[in-house]
Amino acid sequence: MTSEIELIPAPRHFTQGASGRDALDEATLLETGPGTEGVARWLRSTVGAATGLPLREGRDHDNRIVLSIEADLPPEGYRIVIDGSARRIQGGSAAGVFWGAQTFRQLLGPDAFRRAPVRAGQEWAVPMGTIEDAPRFRWRGFMLDVARHFMPKEGVLRHLDLMAAHKLNVFHFHLTDDQGWRVEIKRYPKLTEAGSWRARTKFGHRASPLWEEKPHGGFYTQDDIREIVAYAAERHITVVPEIDVPGHSQAAITAYPELGNTDVIDTTSLSVWDTWGISANVLAPTDTTLRFYEGVFEELLELFPSDFIHVGGDECLKDQWRQSPTAQARIKELGLADEDELQAWFIGHFDKWLTARGRRLIGWDEILEGGLADGAAVSSWRGYAGGVAAARAGHDVVMCPEQYVYLDHRQAAGEDEPVPIGYVRTLEDVYRFEPVPPELTPDEARHVLGTQANVWTEVMEDPARVDYQTFPRLSAFAEVAWSSLPAPADRDYADFERRMAVHYRRLDALGVGYRPPAGPLPWQQRPGVLGRPIEGAPPNR
Ligand code: ACM
Repeated sequence: MTSEIELIPAPRHFTQGASGRDALDEATLLETGPGTEGVARWLRSTVGAATGLPLREGRDHDNRIVLSIEADLPPEGYRIVIDGSARRIQGGSAAGVFWGAQTFRQLLGPDAFRRAPVRAGQEWAVPMGTIEDAPRFRWRGFMLDVARHFMPKEGVLRHLDLMAAHKLNVFHFHLTDDQGWRVEIKRYPKLTEAGSWRARTKFGHRASPLWEEKPHGGFYTQDDIREIVAYAAERHITVVPEIDVPGHSQAAITAYPELGNTDVIDTTSLSVWDTWGISANVLAPTDTTLRFYEGVFEELLELFPSDFIHVGGDECLKDQWRQSPTAQARIKELGLADEDELQAWFIGHFDKWLTARGRRLIGWDEILEGGLADGAAVSSWRGYAGGVAAARAGHDVVMCPEQYVYLDHRQAAGEDEPVPIGYVRTLEDVYRFEPVPPELTPDEARHVLGTQANVWTEVMEDPARVDYQTFPRLSAFAEVAWSSLPAPADRDYADFERRMAVHYRRLDALGVGYRPPAGPLPWQQRPGVLGRPIEGAPPNR
């Protein structure tokens, strides 16, 4: 069993070896097998820095760590063998070796997560034994909303490190929304000049009477994006960008008023939205809009090599389309039944456009309404139903139901919880989340690529609040995404908590401001602005 070695996420198999531990020292060498150079770089820069050990390249004696790719292992699987001879970290690919290296760092103890040694003469040892491990899902995602509150680049890179430490491998980068546009697009400079700053911000829930009366904003330059994508790739993480269309687009319309429904409202009077909820100001279904966004996606494809490109598609209010003669004429001309089909046509356009360029479209489950585009995959967020319908229709699915894995939702009831979203999703709720609902047949279930935890940041105005909401629940989520857990009711939550006791010390060493098991610390609380659990309240968007 895995429990003796307190790993998170839990590995498939751990076989205890001889008693005692195997200690590394100044003479320990690192043998970098073909294709594992990136893992060696990562080990030296993290474990090397934390331990102060040089980990020189070499194979002269058994006191060494050997990194190698082995064909008998599954692509992301790995094997660690500690038997008193050379220590082996083997993977089915460089990714597998990397996940093995992550486990190896956990075996060395919490101080291996620091950036420099903290004790002279500290012993750095790993337990004797063999670990064999492989992930359950190939999409182990984490979504960060940098539109509602901007996360400076350093914070994004740090989250990529935290993902890697939890063997998560897809970073869904929610880059645009009503409240801000966060990625430089060279041909449309106003998207960031005008669209990345708002004058003030609603403080707390959208019904709160308070405002933060100061500008908020920021964006990533294309060089920042290239750096983020490369940093992620070195950690075997794919960055999937999201440009949310046709709803959630008020910031873009503010920058380029011709993108909006100009026959319904004076879009030149709009500003980047300063409150929460769903803006009625959506894109106009015109050729102008389609050409404009083709231009956006052209630059995006240059920046992001991911197979999937996320186009949002959620919560597009259709009121303006109902009132717009232009939108109604388009419905008629295309022979569509209603506004839902108009949205399906809009999304379908980008499905064909992306497919023609060798990419795949993914969108939120609203893209099922009005008919799902041929090649589209679905992020199922309003529960399982959208994902089930999509999988049954032969479409790929990422399960991220808000009932379990929306980490903006509060972690406990009570006055102390700082974030005023009514729903309670505890650490245990997340641990007992099952990404594949039982109603899917095995054939249908093959379309569940995996699962994703989502962090929406309306009520997280700085990185410390993001830490608080994200951890420790992302640690439980990582185990759901990676480990081969039994059915929810049979999961050993007490064992998870026991391993978390050690994992909290790793998070401490990494400087993560998680929610402590006993509840928030004073600095993590915030004056309650409608901060109590709100019975039956809608999500705070
Ligand atoms: C969403 O939460 N609107 C995808």
